[in-house]
Amino acid sequence: MKSVIDILDLSKSEIDSLIKTACDIAANPAMYADRCRGKKIATLFFEPSTRTRLSFEAAMLELGGNAIGFSEASSSSASKGESVSDTAKVITAYADIIAMRHPKEGAPLVASRSAGIPVINAGDGGHCHPTQTLADILTIYREKGRLSELTVGFCGDLKYGRTVHSLIAALSRYSGIKLVLISPDELKLPGYVKNEIIEKNGMSYRQTLSLDEAMPELDILYMTRVQRERFTDLRQYERLKDSYILTLDKLKNAKPDMSILHPLPRVNEISVKVDEDPRACYFKQVYNGKLMRMALILYLLETAKDKKREIPDYSGDGFIVNKLKCSNPRCICSEERELDQIFRATENGIYRCIYCEGKATL
Ligand code: NCD
Repeated sequence: MKSVIDILDLSKSEIDSLIKTACDIAANPAMYADRCRGKKIATLFFEPSTRTRLSFEAAMLELGGNAIGFSEASSSSASKGESVSDTAKVITAYADIIAMRHPKEGAPLVASRSAGIPVINAGDGGHCHPTQTLADILTIYREKGRLSELTVGFCGDLKYGRTVHSLIAALSRYSGIKLVLISPDELKLPGYVKNEIIEKNGMSYRQTLSLDEAMPELDILYMTRVQRERFTDLRQYERLKDSYILTLDKLKNAKPDMSILHPLPRVNEISVKVDEDPRACYFKQVYNGKLMRMALILYLLETAKDKKREIPDYSGDGFIVNKLKCSNPRCICSEERELDQIFRATENGIYRCIYCEGKATL
């Protein structure tokens, strides 16, 4: 039985086969209409969402299954102090698969270690969001016909934008990817993505403050919202929120076949007028997200026929258990009772929390 907490939980060939299934679903939806008859997905959303929750539910309904769940923490027993781990055990009795969104980073990983059914991370704090990446990957594949040899610009909030972290991790598996990281200094990528994904994999990248300067070379422009809910200082948010606004005028210097992606929701970072430009792909991304979630549900339910969980072994040399603390206040380990605090050694001598990638402290 497999869970998907991080996009790298899926191999390149598993992603290829999800793409194949998603394209087949798009071509022959009727063939899939009964594939999950009698199955239920539980959508456990402790944080706001429109697309992700509804697309998981729509995906299951279109496969002939059903959906149960909640859309805010206040309507669940978490508001009474129930742990993530207990919630996951309970839901195992009600559903066949879980999609969980949580403000605490690492919460879906904790759930997957106690649930008896597959868990899908539907976004954990500012950490990662693997199924948005599946939507992004299918969109790039359908627009460009390939996932390699592309110059991809990420623009906006690269610090808290979890979709950015997961998409960069996925792209690290493909050849000839050039990254252009466009952000204000305060919103640059977290160290673990830059050092342990981009640099470790030898990906080509450069950082710039200017979208205008980067525009002409891009094959893909991935715009993001400045993530207001993750700021501790709202004055800083106010100062940074309008850093980049994509307009038709700015697009004059872009390649005629550049694709514009955005995970949505948009605030003001893409002018509504851009929606009519043929390069705008963000509403297609929404549809592609549903197709990939259908493919993923089918695949994970298949793996769940074998009840044994695929859980990494943390007892080996590269791990330290319960001797260090996580420095990230947004990590689930600051909230979940009696959770083993597990850290893995990295190549540059830093220990990182397995739940959130935060640095270890004493
Ligand atoms: C994103 C998210 O929740 O991280 N939205 C989504 O799931 N499509 C992006 C965002 O909220 O800005």
